[in-house]
Amino acid sequence: MAKLNLQTPKGMHDILPQDQVWWDKIYKELNSIASSYHFLKIETPALERAEVFEKSLGETSDIVEKQMFVFKSGSGDRLVLRPENTASIVRAYLQHGLSHLGQPLKLFYSGQMFRKEQPQAGRFRQFHQAGFEIIGGDIDPVYDAQIILAMFRFLERLKIKNAVLNINSIGCKICRPGYRKKLVEYYKSISSKSCGDCKRRFKENPLRLLDCKNPQCQELKSGAPITLDNLCVICSRHFKNVLEFLDELRLPYRLDNHLVRGLDYYSKTVFEFFVDAETEDGRKLDFAIGGGGRYDYLMEMMGGRSSGAVGGAFGLERIIEIMKALKINVAPKAKPVIFFIHISDAAKKKSLALIETIRNEGFEIMESLGKDSLGAQLRSADKENAAYALIFGQKEAFEDTIIVRDLKNGVQETVPLKKLMNELRKRLK
Ligand code: HAM
Repeated sequence: MAKLNLQTPKGMHDILPQDQVWWDKIYKELNSIASSYHFLKIETPALERAEVFEKSLGETSDIVEKQMFVFKSGSGDRLVLRPENTASIVRAYLQHGLSHLGQPLKLFYSGQMFRKEQPQAGRFRQFHQAGFEIIGGDIDPVYDAQIILAMFRFLERLKIKNAVLNINSIGCKICRPGYRKKLVEYYKSISSKSCGDCKRRFKENPLRLLDCKNPQCQELKSGAPITLDNLCVICSRHFKNVLEFLDELRLPYRLDNHLVRGLDYYSKTVFEFFVDAETEDGRKLDFAIGGGGRYDYLMEMMGGRSSGAVGGAFGLERIIEIMKALKINVAPKAKPVIFFIHISDAAKKKSLALIETIRNEGFEIMESLGKDSLGAQLRSADKENAAYALIFGQKEAFEDTIIVRDLKNGVQETVPLKKLMNELRKRLK
């Protein structure tokens, strides 16, 4: 028989028991922030119809062009593993008519996303995002600030204190065409120097020329015209108001004149979060840990009524890598553990029910009922770093007593079962 390939698919990872503390911490703080800022939880399927993303993210975006995992379902529908969640959420908002839940509606989510990328540091094919969206309201800069505020607070809860927000405005349908024209003129004058990808972007989606990561194109970018000089009065006022809210909140930001983001649904405000950190082996972590912006046209593009929307999402694997690099401790405070040890079949028979009674009283108790030798059970207790052992033998089972042994000093005493809970409370308080 051919040997089974046990490797996860390229760019996809298991999350093993020892790493769960990071995820538990993230979800705990995410839920807590969402609840204090009144974001409601939403979950959408991992599979969506391809058209949900094709129109909204843009036919020429990297994601739609080359990163989507597309499948044909049995009935011939083209389905994709979701590459992001904003378009799915707008789809769900429209499908279920969620405007009745509040206007604007504040939603949050977390889950796995899938992009067929070349895996590298912080870039995977399956990764997790957590995001906040405010949709279905007026185009009011206060909502941009509320999203950014919730995202900053989430990072602070995770003890990531040195995050910086890069922010820009890419204008709207009124002012962007004028800017695009200037950009095209600039790139036309230097076209011989740009990379192959940029030559294609130049024809298909000139704004994305500013998104090229190629070092030689980065240099060209520095001479390009900037969006902020070309905003209409409404976009300019909107952006100024967003920055004023951030100033009032004392949230740090950096104007990034060339930030455009890779998805077509954005208008006006766009932003990305960065953190300065280095891994133990000296690797600089220079990826965005989160990003977002306004997407005021998306609802209408997907068949709904025109209305404002803004949101942002974090990449959770990247956040964990940053937390590890910053040596942030997430280990929960260890509760003193009690280890249950049985000796003899007669005791074992009563053990499961007795352990259940102890657990129902709120104590952390462990056992290894599958092992019958005293030595093996004591070794397990030692491995778990247990504070007390409860030893339940034939004699104790017959007399309704149990031995409470302090594992630090070896002192033990026999306690009647009906007094056990009080005894444990006294010792563990
Ligand atoms: P995005 O910038 O494509 O935006 O992704 C958000 C974050 O997800 C990134 O900043 C990054 O941390 C993480 N991320 C993206 N791709 C990968 C990958 N291949 N591997 C690991 N992490 C990754 C969006 O997805 C928008 N939906 C955000 C948004 C919400 N805009 C408005 N609302």
